[in-house]
Amino acid sequence: MKVLLTGGAGYIGSHVAVALAAAGHDIICFDNLSNSRADVIDRLETITGKPIPLVVGDIRDRAAVRGAIGKHGAEAVVHFAGLKAVGESVAEPIRYYDNNVRGTLSMVEAMIESGVKTLVFSSSATVYGQPKYLPLDEAHPTSATNPYGRTKLMIEEMLADIAGADPGWRIAVLRYFNPVGAHDSGLIGEDPSGIPNNLMPFISRVAAGRLPELSVFGNDYDTPDGTGVRDYVHVVDLAEGHVAALGAIAAGDAPLGIWNLGTGEGYSVLDMIASFERVNGVKIPYRIAPRRAGDVASCYASPDRARDELGWTAQRGLDAMCGSSWTFERTLAMRNAKGKAGE
Ligand code: NAD
Ligand code: WQD
Repeated sequence: MKVLLTGGAGYIGSHVAVALAAAGHDIICFDNLSNSRADVIDRLETITGKPIPLVVGDIRDRAAVRGAIGKHGAEAVVHFAGLKAVGESVAEPIRYYDNNVRGTLSMVEAMIESGVKTLVFSSSATVYGQPKYLPLDEAHPTSATNPYGRTKLMIEEMLADIAGADPGWRIAVLRYFNPVGAHDSGLIGEDPSGIPNNLMPFISRVAAGRLPELSVFGNDYDTPDGTGVRDYVHVVDLAEGHVAALGAIAAGDAPLGIWNLGTGEGYSVLDMIASFERVNGVKIPYRIAPRRAGDVASCYASPDRARDELGWTAQRGLDAMCGSSWTFERTLAMRNAKGKAGE
């Protein structure tokens, strides 16, 4: 299939581009580069050995989305484009509703105008709110605790209404748990601007000496070692989940399906530090800090529905997640050093 990836230059989008290309699909990236760089595309072409067109545009620009779909003959859209920082969404809610909710609505309208009704959407385990039971299955009640989470919930509800009104849609809503790691080449990965909010990029930067130490947000949770437990899923596994989901919805007859993408295993912050140190032979200085507002003690998936209906199960463990994150961080450091030397 010819597949348009909104947000295709970003962290998860770039890994999905590789997986879709490896599965024989033709990829077109559509991105406004607000949180990514155009040179990611060069690296994607190196990895895939295929030309990957980049359309620089905004999902809120209907004509631009229509133009990209029309020019490249896209038959499906995988929709990553969005803002994703929880704290920022509390400070700037209008920006989040505008970019994520209005942007998705506008993009869906452009799809309808183009006659394309196959869509894979990046949702998040954040839509489960405070867990009422574990593991979280797709039937768990949804709620949101911050504006970012509310944008994901609103989009999910909007998509359900759209699919309800027109059974011609084929929509996959994928609820990601905690994506980490990078492609083995070290050429693509997660490189947040500023100080990272998420655990794994923070650990990588401490390991690289770019940050002095990690703050562990609380060690008095009701978990085996007192630190927060999460379901970390390797981004390459996550990417393969998109290939499976696209195949399943295109071949199936349901207008909309919802699937968790997680491993079903929970690991604590201290587990993550210990694994990163052991796998990579580095030291991660840390100190125990107060809890972070809004954090839950434990969150992990039931991945059974994705296994049964998509035939997808995560294959890569914590060692691969930690190893590939460090490979990416070191490759990035070399690239930056070369860039500086060439200035
Ligand atoms: P990312 O910021 O690396 O990628 C998002 C991409 O979208 C960026 O390249 C950005 O430039 C682009 N973009 C943003 N707004 C746009 C707009 N209006 N028009 C066009 N392009 C736009 O983030 P990511 O981690 O790759 O996340 C991808 C998606 O997955 C997001 O929707 C995010 O909410 C969701 N998600 C991420 C995580 C996570 O932990 N990374 C977890 C659950 C869900
Ligand atoms: C993981 C664990 C922290 C940083 C967030 C979003 C969620 C989703 C994924 C998009 C927690 C602890 C972290 C640090 C720490 N994103 N931690 N020190 O909070 O599970 O989920 O990203 O949809 O919506 O909320 O991920 O990586 O921030 O935290 O101790 O410097 O690491 O307290 O226990 P989280 P995270």
